[in-house]
Amino acid sequence: MEALVCKKLGDPTLPLSDSSPIFVSNDHPIPNLTSPTSVRVQIKATSLNYANFLQILGKYQEKPPLPFIPGSDYSGVVEAVGTGVTKFKIGDFVCSFTALGSFAGKIVAEEKDLFCVPDGCDLVAAGALPIAYGTSHVGLVHRARLSAGQVLLVLGAAGGVGLSAVQIGKVCGAIVIAVARGTEKVNFLKSLGVDLVVDSSEGSIIESVKKFLRARKLKGVDVLYDPVGGKLAKESLKLLNWAANILVIGFASGEVPVIPANIALVKNWTIHGLFWGSYKIHQPKVLEDSVAELLSWLAKGLITINISHSYTLSEANLAFSAIKERKAIGKVMITFGDNRETRSRL
Ligand SMILES: NC(=O)c1ccc[n+]([C@@H]2O[C@H](COP(=O)([O-])OP(=O)(O)OC[C@H]3O[C@@H](n4cnc5c(N)ncnc54)[C@H](OP(=O)(O)O)[C@@H]3O)[C@@H](O)[C@H]2O)c1
Repeated sequence: MEALVCKKLGDPTLPLSDSSPIFVSNDHPIPNLTSPTSVRVQIKATSLNYANFLQILGKYQEKPPLPFIPGSDYSGVVEAVGTGVTKFKIGDFVCSFTALGSFAGKIVAEEKDLFCVPDGCDLVAAGALPIAYGTSHVGLVHRARLSAGQVLLVLGAAGGVGLSAVQIGKVCGAIVIAVARGTEKVNFLKSLGVDLVVDSSEGSIIESVKKFLRARKLKGVDVLYDPVGGKLAKESLKLLNWAANILVIGFASGEVPVIPANIALVKNWTIHGLFWGSYKIHQPKVLEDSVAELLSWLAKGLITINISHSYTLSEANLAFSAIKERKAIGKVMITFGDNRETRSRL
């Protein structure tokens, strides 16, 4: 089978050659079922998350031994089942996530770790959902308990997790303020009916957000969703309401922000560090219920997944470039078979 192998740490955007840290193996061994309750999935789509890029660079918190097959969330079709499998049969559409290994034609998972992709869901879109949408759903719904009428401020709002937070915020009935860089991203977010979109390339975001809050007679931001960190996060703290919730999601800017504890005390802020993957170990039911709910929202059209870039495995360096160069609006995917032209509804 086809598999993308990371042989050394380095920049995965380099053209695939001897100097690249990644290469495509065309005769990688097909994984065998590992237990009576395991399932082999023929992968149709796997998404790129910023963490996949950081992991190959050697800058992610989890550092697997070399060589490894990167890749985390995926969708596909069941092609083999163990003798004890009860939930799935050959031909079923499924999606899931894994620590490693989805940048390959096939993967083996335990049936308890797979989700059924409901009728009406685009199979490629389902491969983009677990991590990005799962992180935002657990953060906004489970941790910050975002409710209708609250003000949600999303940084990096056109990125993978950011765009999912915007959509989930709207489903929750929140007033959503989105921050993104550049006209294309801003126009895209406006087309989704976001309450206010601020272009971060035009200087400080504070004045435009304050003006909006004043006009709508709102006191401040109730929930800050921050996958970016750095200067933007620091500025955003000035917009927060009394008893605001801060979701610390990631540091795409490369800079970990400092949140002063004295101000958190005076303003009664709650700061949530959120590592979505760790729910799999500590509270798997929360994570499973969350992904199942998101798939039902996808089937009902409450959320839609925008795939701005789609590549084959042998174009993986281009896929990583789209992430590195901040070109992605929503998700970047690697697809297999004849799915390249498949797009979800906007
Ligand atoms: N906590 C968790 O469990 C969890 C789960 C998933 C992801 N994450 C983290 O969330 C962050 C975003 O992940 P993602 O998959 O959504 O990535 P992504 O699709 O590449 O989006 C990142 C966004 O960050 C913004 N950004 C600002 N400064 C940047 C910089 N210097 N370099 C790159 N992007 C910059 C970009 O928006 P503009 O160009 O519009 O500024 C971009 O849209 C990453 O740090 C990732 O590790 C955390």
